[in-house]
Amino acid sequence: MFPVERPRRLRRTGVLRRMVRETTLTVDDLIYPVFVQEGTGMEQEISSMPGQFRYSVDRLVPAVEAAVRLGVPAVILFGIPAEKDEVGSGAYAEEGIVQRAIHALKKAFGNDLVVIADVCLCEYTSHGHCGVIHNHDVDNDATLELLGKTAVSLAEAGADMVAPSAMMDGQVQAIRDALDRAGFSRVPIMSYAAKFASFFYGPFREAAESAPGFGDRRGYQMDPANGREALRELLLDDEEGADILMVKPAMPYLDVIARAREVTLKPLAAYQVSGEYAMLKAAARNGWLPERDVVLESLMAIKRAGADLILTYFAKEVAEWLK
Ligand code: PBG
Repeated sequence: MFPVERPRRLRRTGVLRRMVRETTLTVDDLIYPVFVQEGTGMEQEISSMPGQFRYSVDRLVPAVEAAVRLGVPAVILFGIPAEKDEVGSGAYAEEGIVQRAIHALKKAFGNDLVVIADVCLCEYTSHGHCGVIHNHDVDNDATLELLGKTAVSLAEAGADMVAPSAMMDGQVQAIRDALDRAGFSRVPIMSYAAKFASFFYGPFREAAESAPGFGDRRGYQMDPANGREALRELLLDDEEGADILMVKPAMPYLDVIARAREVTLKPLAAYQVSGEYAMLKAAARNGWLPERDVVLESLMAIKRAGADLILTYFAKEVAEWLK
């Protein structure tokens, strides 16, 4: 004990601190979420996410090129289709918006970029829910077939990985089966395993025009009060064959990330969602917080909690800062 024990001894200089640092953040940890929409020459800023844009496919390629040049290993794509319908057919259309975006990105960057495709119906359904509606409710098992079909369609377009985010029971197994049957056994699944029904998704829903037209998502996304149930969701997806497990959102759920780290041997991802981005950005823009410092601290904290990978809208800036 004190005065023998003096933790400050190892904090005296920068080099000492570097030697005993337990957690590191590198560009290899980052996954950059991007929005793609119809049209040409489009680069529309999202008002609640300053610095983030909805790109048409032709503009997407140069925007992603900047990230690739900085060493960002992966992007995850979200599409805004021209038309929506009851069954979200735009999600699994051969010429769908994300299918075309994947094609363009793989053509431009080949194996220098991992292209991940989000698998969900909410951006493509007229009612904005993540599955098909029967009797005013999302029909789980009917939705599974469409999610499988969507994953196959995205793999056919060239996606390197698929990421189901609909929170339907059995979705990982259904997608694994569908991919394997279509000859895509090599395509990994990053599962949004513990995805909470969070108000921090607000800016994303503005960007993707995917807010539910009636009700909310609490019948399928998780109750923010439940930590044990999150572990159950993570373990189920682990058993169903997910290759990477995700917790979402990140910063308000660091305890879930830490507990998840204890129960699975698989890589763990965390999603610093749109609302987390908006908060940090707003404070920075007002001069209330120093942007670079708080962003790096927030990401370091997410890694310290146990995440191996972080989906963050700050990916490009962070890659630049870490250079
Ligand atoms: C689609 C999906 C959502 C997000 C990622 N995939 C929105 C939602 O569930 O309503 C949110 C991402 C973010 O807020 O940055 N299901």
